[in-house]
Amino acid sequence: MPIALDVNVLPRGKTSRTRKLHEAFFAAWHAKHPDGQRISVNLAEDYRTLPVFDEWDITAKFEMLYGEGHLDDKGAERWNALTQLTDQLHAADLVVISTPMWNFSIPWHLKRWIDCVVQGRLTFEFVGGQFQGLLTGRKAVILSSRDGLYTPGTSLAALDFQMPYLRTILGFLGLAPIHEVVAEPMMLAGVEAGIAALEVAVEKARALGSEL
Ligand SMILES: Cc1cc2nc3c(=O)[nH]c(=O)nc-3n(C[C@H](O)[C@H](O)[C@H](O)COP(=O)(O)O)c2cc1C
Repeated sequence: MPIALDVNVLPRGKTSRTRKLHEAFFAAWHAKHPDGQRISVNLAEDYRTLPVFDEWDITAKFEMLYGEGHLDDKGAERWNALTQLTDQLHAADLVVISTPMWNFSIPWHLKRWIDCVVQGRLTFEFVGGQFQGLLTGRKAVILSSRDGLYTPGTSLAALDFQMPYLRTILGFLGLAPIHEVVAEPMMLAGVEAGIAALEVAVEKARALGSEL
């Protein structure tokens, strides 16, 4: 029974374009895997329950990353809150991130989740002078939409701090291969072009869900 971890940040609700990719992908994925289990992290709501990375969270992080792993009660409590999130990643066969571009990067909700799950000893380690991701053997998918066109060779390409960042983080944790479907440009080439580009991307998302 494959398990998909569905990490999404879709604050626009039903009007979200990225949600259309998300729905197409998962409809196809569930059709392919009738016994598949989807665990959803709905960051537009669930961000409220995530650790905030205050002094205690960071102290626990640094002790586990650079120290010998001795945590006091408060540190252990904070660390345990993080392991609940990283356990979801370890349990998954497939990790699907669904997010729009915000200010050339990702919404803050998703960054907050990333700050929680990228943890030494939990999802990566530093061994022999090298970083090693601990989530190998798991595939990843990024589904996104954005108003501009940022593909390589375009005038906006250098402003894309979203997809390169997400690829880097997922790859750093050991996830591979990383599949992508990006609906673009949603607005900057006109409304009609945006509608057409979204239709193409929805079909790609559906095909990818059927493949994986
Ligand atoms: C706060 C905010 C910032 C945005 N920043 C960018 C941006 O830097 N570049 C861009 O191309 N689109 C930007 N957009 C537009 C969205 O990426 C685009 O409309 C996307 O399709 C929205 O996805 P959604 O419908 O799933 O919410 C921004 C939208 C919002 C709400």
